[in-house]
Amino acid sequence: MSTQAPVVVHPDGELLARATAARFLLALVDAQSVATPVHVALTGGSILVDVLRAVAVDPLRDAVDWTAVHVWWGDERFVPAGHEERNDVDAAEALLDHLPLRPENVHAVPGPDTVADVDAAARAYTEELATHAAPGATVPELAVVLLGMGPDGHVASLFPGRPSLAEESLGALAEPDSPKPPPERVSLTLPTLCSAHQVWLVVSGEGKAPAVAAALAQTSLPEEDGRTGDGESVPAGRVQASGRTLWLVDLAATSALA
Ligand code: 6PG
Repeated sequence: MSTQAPVVVHPDGELLARATAARFLLALVDAQSVATPVHVALTGGSILVDVLRAVAVDPLRDAVDWTAVHVWWGDERFVPAGHEERNDVDAAEALLDHLPLRPENVHAVPGPDTVADVDAAARAYTEELATHAAPGATVPELAVVLLGMGPDGHVASLFPGRPSLAEESLGALAEPDSPKPPPERVSLTLPTLCSAHQVWLVVSGEGKAPAVAAALAQTSLPEEDGRTGDGESVPAGRVQASGRTLWLVDLAATSALA
């Protein structure tokens, strides 16, 4: 249960980003000692971009064989390649452009410049995932998934009260009406996130504190916080990795914990 997931508290957002970067690099080095290639999933959001920037300047980055790392996205905004709102544009600037990754191992979600609509983008991403899955599987085993969390408790592009949360298949789905702009997005499904070996929820700031408390208690946020208030756990509280779920937070994000 995610209620039992460890919560690691760092004093502030900067240390959270640096410590998460070091942890991420160690996890990659460790994963590469037993298997190759290694698949990871990134996401968008302010703290995650800080983490990627910290990875870029961490000396341990050179201990990773980046040519054997596959990069996926937990979610992407359905806007054209190169658009400033895309998560992969932020990730490229912060880190990916500075690493010797193989371009074919960086799995961008198609945008409206290459596919007809957001449903087609989700289907194409599901197919791409299947192409890299082990025999008999439909998605690759993700060694580490980095997730941010919104103040409503959303993760990737899985938002409270949306039908996407009930999706039971492995792969990607289309979110046509996200409450956070831009409205059209592609997200890994909840079962896909939960199939990952490790999922880390990286959360910074007091504005996220009620959602952290709700997720750890596996409850919803009250209506007045703008959410469903339906008693269902916020999406972040439903993520349970196959191996290890870890909350990496700063002190401010814990301010609503009892
Ligand atoms: C997105 C993100 C989203 C993000 C959280 C946290 O595409 O919008 O993937 O899930 O990680 O909203 O973002 P902040 O850290 O900026 O609040």
